[in-house]
Amino acid sequence: MLEDRIRRPSLLDRIVTPKEAASLIQDGMIIGMSGFTRAGDAKAVPVAMAERARTDPFKITLLTGASLGHDIDRMLTEAHVLARRMPFQTDPTLRAAINRGEVMFVDQHLSETVEHLRSNQLGPIDYAIIEAAAIRLDGGIIPSTSIGNSASFAILAKKLIIEINLSQTLDLEGLHDIYIPTKRPTREAIPVVGCDTRAGMPYIPVDPEKIAAIVITQEQDSFSTVEPADAETSAIAGHLIRFFEEEVRLGRLDLTLNPLQAGIGTIANSVLSGLADGPFHHLRMYSEVLQDSTFDLFDAGKLSFASGSSITLSSACAARVYADFRRYKDRLVLRPQEISNHPEVIRRLGVIGINTALEVDIYGNINSTHVNGTHMMNGIGGSGDFARNAYLSIFVTKSLAKGGRISSVVPMVPHVDHTEHDVDIIVTENGLADLRELAPRERAERIIEHCAHPDYREALRSYFERASARGGHTPHLLEEAFSWHLNSRDRGDMRQSKLAAAAE
Ligand code: COA
Repeated sequence: MLEDRIRRPSLLDRIVTPKEAASLIQDGMIIGMSGFTRAGDAKAVPVAMAERARTDPFKITLLTGASLGHDIDRMLTEAHVLARRMPFQTDPTLRAAINRGEVMFVDQHLSETVEHLRSNQLGPIDYAIIEAAAIRLDGGIIPSTSIGNSASFAILAKKLIIEINLSQTLDLEGLHDIYIPTKRPTREAIPVVGCDTRAGMPYIPVDPEKIAAIVITQEQDSFSTVEPADAETSAIAGHLIRFFEEEVRLGRLDLTLNPLQAGIGTIANSVLSGLADGPFHHLRMYSEVLQDSTFDLFDAGKLSFASGSSITLSSACAARVYADFRRYKDRLVLRPQEISNHPEVIRRLGVIGINTALEVDIYGNINSTHVNGTHMMNGIGGSGDFARNAYLSIFVTKSLAKGGRISSVVPMVPHVDHTEHDVDIIVTENGLADLRELAPRERAERIIEHCAHPDYREALRSYFERASARGGHTPHLLEEAFSWHLNSRDRGDMRQSKLAAAAE
């Protein structure tokens, strides 16, 4: 059995316990770990690292693909192992430590981390800790349910620790397409010209001599935590479907649409699932995380092909998909995140990017990351890679948060992840604002009338009218622009003072 997983006999004597592998990690090291949206993460060595740090304190810089499962970020935070963390996270304990200033979090475009490593802006990586389904005879690593940054971490690291996960099906072999861009400034064009293009190798090529330790695990990936669609997310999906139908009627798209990307989270997942009810067919995805919605669309006969960097599923969906993975495999490819999110490819394919905002302002600037402008939620993730380069850049959000105490449409966002220049369409449960080719004053009218919740619409109108009277290309009342956020910060409710006064 083990010989199927570790096919190079000379590597069998490198099998060690997680504790022995964790002892290789020294204070101050830079560690690159597999894991992207809870899929394909190293599951045993980081836990052993956290245990060791309780009696033998040490700190590291930790790079991953994106978020990790199995509470690993929580355990490493509680054990005070993390000095620096990049490029993305979703863990509440780590989030709190970041917001207390205890962990230095570098919030990075997901396509860029390995470019920084390659150009020596960071690094070198001391150890890459990578989950694999198997190691080939030539030492090549067959990743599991994500690639993320694993390929470049493994290629660039001084040493490797491999976790062979026996719970990951060997049917994953052949799913991956590892293409590493050539050196700049004479880089060749990235030869991905369709969602289903295979440009590289189905394994990560590494020198087997770099493999310092191998650990055997058998724990499954953490399941995704997306909630089922609700009335608001279904309404958002409905608005988008009608919009796409209209684009088809106008001859801008056909019923196969352009390749789709959908961001992480509940809203984007249910919007994509909603496409199963529309007239569209032979859809394709060029995305980063493939969630339940991808497989819902496959099963509904609507999706022809999906390209991503990870597969993150709920337990019910995982049971269905992995019971017969071969049914889906020839319609799937997993790529390194610098390729799944590469600006060149996204622009070439004309991707329709659907990402989620925490809040939007009346001109269409987007805050995806910072609650009240200061406190990190998760990170920008891949949303900027897609929004800047998409054929259509769509942002979705519910118009209210926290039981109506917060409006997701505000006069001015206090932190900007995506500027108005990168935002074509905004959708809430109230409606869809098509902002293409509109000037700021026109954008504001459309966002207020179509997207804002009726409870906040009058106050937004009042703000915009009074600002417009003062003049400007993008009119604002600077002394009032953040008053809603100040109310939210101080009273936990935006519906105070200025807002109440405006509505009177
Ligand atoms: N102010 C404060 N909190 C807000 C808010 C606002 N304007 N809007 C939403 N929230 C809170 C919600 O109340 C919820 O809190 P809870 O977890 O305590 O219930 C939380 O944010 C998540 O919001 P939800 O409406 O459930 O949406 P989601 O699960 O789809 O996540 C983002 C939304 C923005 C946090 C998430 O999509 C994200 O991190 N995006 C940035 C990264 C990204 O877009 N990647 C895309 C490529 S992968």
